[in-house]
Amino acid sequence: MNDASHSTDVSDGPTEEPTEQPTEQPGMPSAHSAPLPASPGGVRIDHLITSGTFSLDGGTWEVDNNVWLLGNDDECVVFDAPHVSAPILAAIGDRRLVAILCTHAHDDHITAVGELRAATGAPTYLHPADRVLWDRVYDTPPDRELADGDELRVGDVTVRVLHTPGHAPGACCFVVPELGVVFSGDTLFQGGPGATGRSFSSFPTIIDSITSRLFDLPDETVVLTGHGGSTTIGAERPALQDWLDRGH
Ligand SMILES: [Fe+2]
Repeated sequence: MNDASHSTDVSDGPTEEPTEQPTEQPGMPSAHSAPLPASPGGVRIDHLITSGTFSLDGGTWEVDNNVWLLGNDDECVVFDAPHVSAPILAAIGDRRLVAILCTHAHDDHITAVGELRAATGAPTYLHPADRVLWDRVYDTPPDRELADGDELRVGDVTVRVLHTPGHAPGACCFVVPELGVVFSGDTLFQGGPGATGRSFSSFPTIIDSITSRLFDLPDETVVLTGHGGSTTIGAERPALQDWLDRGH
């Protein structure tokens, strides 16, 4: 386990890039180097950044989190509800929120779930293995359990659940094959695996999740992450041996 008092890692991401932060302002839509894909039926991806703190193992760090929305003009889902609900509700607009899909239950990813659920009535989905983290924030359970292989329909696209433990025991990624994207939470970042130095994390487990599940995806798959910039499966795959050599 990391000794938080000695840690300079302010992010929840790759430990070698602790100062990397998005340049966008919190709560504002971001600019991407490449346009995000959309479906023939009008399903698009919206992106916000919210700011707040992440606390675990006695330490607290300032973090910026990505919030991703997937949907058309009528309905959408949101991946994670970090820090504050107001900008997320603004991005949802008058659309029906079908689900709040949690990539994992580190507190920075779920602090606004309660407000969002109260404001919209949308059910929250979490893998049951992350209740150990969820229960530190909320005294009522999530509404639904995620399981590997689950599929959820949003407009004319499918969201497929991959259970990818390692960063957290119930960490999940969400693949949208029609758009060629995966919402990776804190499992895979631009530059490597998510942090595994704190409680309930495992480096061998996250490596197994990435190699056996995420690296099954086509190289061109765009990886939309929980913090920082986006990447692709093909950009990350060649770095596997470097990650193994450095051990994080
Ligand atoms: Fe995390």
